[in-house]
Amino acid sequence: METFRRDFVEVLKEAENVVFFTGAGISAESGISTFRGTDGIWNKLKPEELANFDAFLKNPDRVWEWYQYRRHIIDRSKPNPAHLAIAGMQELFRNVTVVTQNVDNLHRRAGSRTVYELHGNIERNYCIECRTPYNSPEFASDDKVPRCENCGGLVRPDIVWFGEMLPEEDFSLSEEAAEKCDIMFSVGTSSVVYPAARIPLLAKRLGAYLVEVNLEETELSPLADYVLIGKAGEILPGVLEEVKKLKGKG
Ligand code: OAD
Repeated sequence: METFRRDFVEVLKEAENVVFFTGAGISAESGISTFRGTDGIWNKLKPEELANFDAFLKNPDRVWEWYQYRRHIIDRSKPNPAHLAIAGMQELFRNVTVVTQNVDNLHRRAGSRTVYELHGNIERNYCIECRTPYNSPEFASDDKVPRCENCGGLVRPDIVWFGEMLPEEDFSLSEEAAEKCDIMFSVGTSSVVYPAARIPLLAKRLGAYLVEVNLEETELSPLADYVLIGKAGEILPGVLEEVKKLKGKG
């Protein structure tokens, strides 16, 4: 098992409030592509043609079909050891909060109870006219964009597209969690998409110990107290084992 630096272990021992801020990299080992990097989605497809409201109005079926494709991949995927390790931490710390940029629901499926979703959730949809929600999987089974049963409006995925506001409640609850946490983990995110990327910065500014888990260094690395380079699915189970040992539950 990996040996962790002493100052990190000391913080883990005393910590009560822990936040995991996660991005696409945490789901990579579940078979879901990330957005940036060599195999990233935005290297092959243009976000301006898929992930914004104007693109949807211009060609709703194309955008809908793309999200259906992603839904199929996500439906077939399972939480990996990184998601499960985070859920396992709930038994060891007073408060464990997940703030995620992911829309794949894998944290909840792994058993995490407090999950704030900053970029929406691919399992949900709503009418762009009257905002009726459509969340049953049967509703989203077609490759053609569905119409609202109440008003006939187009139904869109409940995902935050470029240029759109983040869900207010989830964002302010994430800020609150960041403000009061003792330790903040930033896992599998390139830390370049704002305002989400403000969350770990806020925690750090207010005195939390900031840990980064990533395959490589990012823009956040110079600010982190501890940078763990490697796969989240390998590093986080190691952290969980360490915490169990510290709490006499190993
Ligand atoms: P990115 O694709 O920008 O970054 C993924 C990060 O995960 C990179 O820094 C990789 O090095 C790292 N990574 C990959 N595999 C990993 C692994 N197994 N273990 C640890 N780290 C790994 O994804 P995000 O930062 O999540 O927005 O992107 C932010 C937002 O940009 C997304 O939420 C999405 C996108 O446009 C919306 O869809 C609204």
